[in-house]
Amino acid sequence: MTSRNYPIEIKGLVKRYGKGPMVLRGISMKIDKGEIVGYLGPNGSGKTTTIKMLTNLIKPTAGTVKIKGIDVQKYPKKALKHVGALIEVPGVYDYLSPRELLTYFGRVYGMRKKDIEDRIVEVLKEVKLSRSVDDKVGSFSTGMQRRLMIAKAIFHDPEILILDEPVIGLDPKGIKEVRDLVRKLGSEGRSVLMSSHLLSEVSDTCDRVIFLNNGRIVEDDTVANIVDKASFRRIDVSFAKLQSDRAILDINSITGVDRTERNNGGASIYYDGKPVTGGSILREMMKAGYPVYSFTPGSGGLEQYYISIMGDEKGVS
Ligand SMILES: Nc1ncnc2c1ncn2[C@@H]1O[C@H](COP(=O)(O)OP(=O)(O)OP(=O)(O)O)[C@@H](O)[C@H]1O
Ligand SMILES: [Mg+2]
Repeated sequence: MTSRNYPIEIKGLVKRYGKGPMVLRGISMKIDKGEIVGYLGPNGSGKTTTIKMLTNLIKPTAGTVKIKGIDVQKYPKKALKHVGALIEVPGVYDYLSPRELLTYFGRVYGMRKKDIEDRIVEVLKEVKLSRSVDDKVGSFSTGMQRRLMIAKAIFHDPEILILDEPVIGLDPKGIKEVRDLVRKLGSEGRSVLMSSHLLSEVSDTCDRVIFLNNGRIVEDDTVANIVDKASFRRIDVSFAKLQSDRAILDINSITGVDRTERNNGGASIYYDGKPVTGGSILREMMKAGYPVYSFTPGSGGLEQYYISIMGDEKGVS
């Protein structure tokens, strides 16, 4: 065991609301400096519940949550000064302007008047809201409101950002703006944990994805590895001339082929998914005289992978 302090470290976290069912059944995770991590799970799986415990809005039933090694429950103020969070509370700031809202939060953080004024200019520029500094938040589009909430989250320049569904309800342009912003904030060395129920969304924004289902973490890996695992590891081949069952079966003897199935007029060949193996299988087939007409590697299916992972869990309450 190392005594290294991670920006975010969750150990054996359990949550049950009153006498209700177990929402989290003991989850653990570590998030490193500069990592952008997607926290993925279906509706009602406990993403917001986890984020609320990370920000001390609710108490764990068991387990610990630490920010930079500081226990959030024991020392919330000390731990959370390093954290900027986005947890949606719709409508409450409608009658304020960004200047009024951010001035208020700056005071809460104990910042001086001049620093608050300078920081407002800086963060509103970062989230592209400079021109709306004195407009009422209630008149903002959903995308503008979301960006303002991100401005509020980064106002005290925290090292750690925790964002609950930052792109939910946004249109494609709004999604892109928030995604670019999150990536930029991550590239500046911050650690980001963002929840989502869309794998396609987190795979575009994040470096790593943690899948939550039935109260447990069912997968925790880099996006690159997940994309790799999601590929079907299959090549679909069609022939210029119909092949006999025997000829299809013979494909199995080619090095690198795991298994072959007849598929319409052609064959589906299963292999390790590596392009170099696929290439050598094609070469060997040509050499053996197969009249290969098309040769198509099965492409990745992230959503299919998501369903396969989430469908696998047969947890019961
Ligand atoms: N205050 C509460 N009291 C009782 N049960 C709650 C409370 N808050 C959440 N729950 C329950 O806990 C479970 C997890 O909810 P949570 O909001 O954390 O899920 P989520 O993953 O954020 O879902 P979504 O994708 O819809 O945002 C749900 O079954 C929900 O009904
Ligand atoms: Mg939620």
